[in-house]
Amino acid sequence: MNRRPLENLRLFKERRERVAEKLQGSVLVLTSPEESLRNGSVGHPFRQDSNLYYLTGFEEPESVFVFRPGTKPETILFVRRRNPERETWDGFRFGPELAQREFQVDAAFPIEEFSQRIAELLKGADRIYYRPYRNRKMDQLMETVLLEQKSSLGRTGLGLLPLYDSDEFLGDFRVIKSDLDLLNHRRACDLSVEAHVQTMKYVRPGMSEREIHGYFIYQIMKRGAAREGYNSIIASGPNACTLHYIFNDRELRNGDLLLVDAAGEFNYFTSDITRTYPVNGQFTDAQAEVYEGVLRVQKAVIESVKPGLPFAKLHELGAALLTDVMLELGLLTGRRDDLVAANKHRKYYPHGVGHFLGMDVHDQGLYVRNRKGEPREIQPGMVFTVEPGLYIPADDAEAAEHYRGIGVRIEDNILVTNAGYEVLTRECPKEIQDLGKIVGAQ
Ligand code: GLY
Ligand code: MN
Ligand code: MN
Repeated sequence: MNRRPLENLRLFKERRERVAEKLQGSVLVLTSPEESLRNGSVGHPFRQDSNLYYLTGFEEPESVFVFRPGTKPETILFVRRRNPERETWDGFRFGPELAQREFQVDAAFPIEEFSQRIAELLKGADRIYYRPYRNRKMDQLMETVLLEQKSSLGRTGLGLLPLYDSDEFLGDFRVIKSDLDLLNHRRACDLSVEAHVQTMKYVRPGMSEREIHGYFIYQIMKRGAAREGYNSIIASGPNACTLHYIFNDRELRNGDLLLVDAAGEFNYFTSDITRTYPVNGQFTDAQAEVYEGVLRVQKAVIESVKPGLPFAKLHELGAALLTDVMLELGLLTGRRDDLVAANKHRKYYPHGVGHFLGMDVHDQGLYVRNRKGEPREIQPGMVFTVEPGLYIPADDAEAAEHYRGIGVRIEDNILVTNAGYEVLTRECPKEIQDLGKIVGAQ
């Protein structure tokens, strides 16, 4: 936290230059997340808002970045003042002067001055990009500013400054990764793969999900991750059927499958990997049947990735092929297309096949062309997950008994290239034979 931007300064400048081209005449206001949402005085570790970080590299709470391309000053940071007493408790603060110098912005002011300076900074703008509902104090300030701005226009008939969602605007930049972005993104993927492999070796019947969780965190942090990219899901046995299971307190029993959906974050880029394997290394026949079905679908979906294909087609392919597997396993009966049309497959596969990945695990970026929902095509530089799964509830009377309580998801991270794709997480084992050799091999 509070790191100097150093070698990454170029990255933030390059991003600002790209964004500036589409921001002429407008003002972008980005705020850090509300501190009161943290938990008490010791709190959860603070993480900067992804968009604020994306354009500045500044990691302190209570900060605002204002970007007004084509005007002077163009880049303005509002930050906490230096405060020796608070710094004794909470650590170093840059303060305005140092922040301006180190982060190479045109101006920096104490955060307390935001309310008196923002109206001036908005003068002449024809629209404002801001994301409300994330920081209540800032929302109130912005509301006042917008109303004052309107009254200052007198009897011109002009209305409130139009407000555009900065998440949508910046999401469109973030969805295409630059070479420098990819350096960080690859590091996140590599260290997460290594942590998964180490965790596979460590797993034994009798351990608790929580121990596995702690071990995974140790492995990512040892490799330079700042934190988990999201709450790890360490789900053994029937817990794997709970999609966002994060309680992680059950004991791993011999014969269970273990689903580990976990990754580390490196320089604000995260990976998102799921592997499912038996805690004793050996799949039962029923587990292997479900697993092989999901793996086959995952590979087929990945192989279909190419520039120009609408992202929605991946969802369709995933649903169709998984429904075939459900039919093979006797979980459903009927015609595949009818079952999908009637959403019957969602009983065992209730999520989508993947999502954009980047600074946030469910990253920003448009999956559609417009508000009519026209699907957007996959482009080189996009990174997303492919993560089909099958989850057969333990109490599902319609499923054959030997399948009940089996939950399998296999998730990799895919970079779209001009020629097709690259699997950034390809070194993470997923073949049954490989898993049999690695799990518990430490
Ligand atoms: N780990 C959350 C997800 O796979 O979407
Ligand atoms: Mn995912
Ligand atoms: Mn995941």
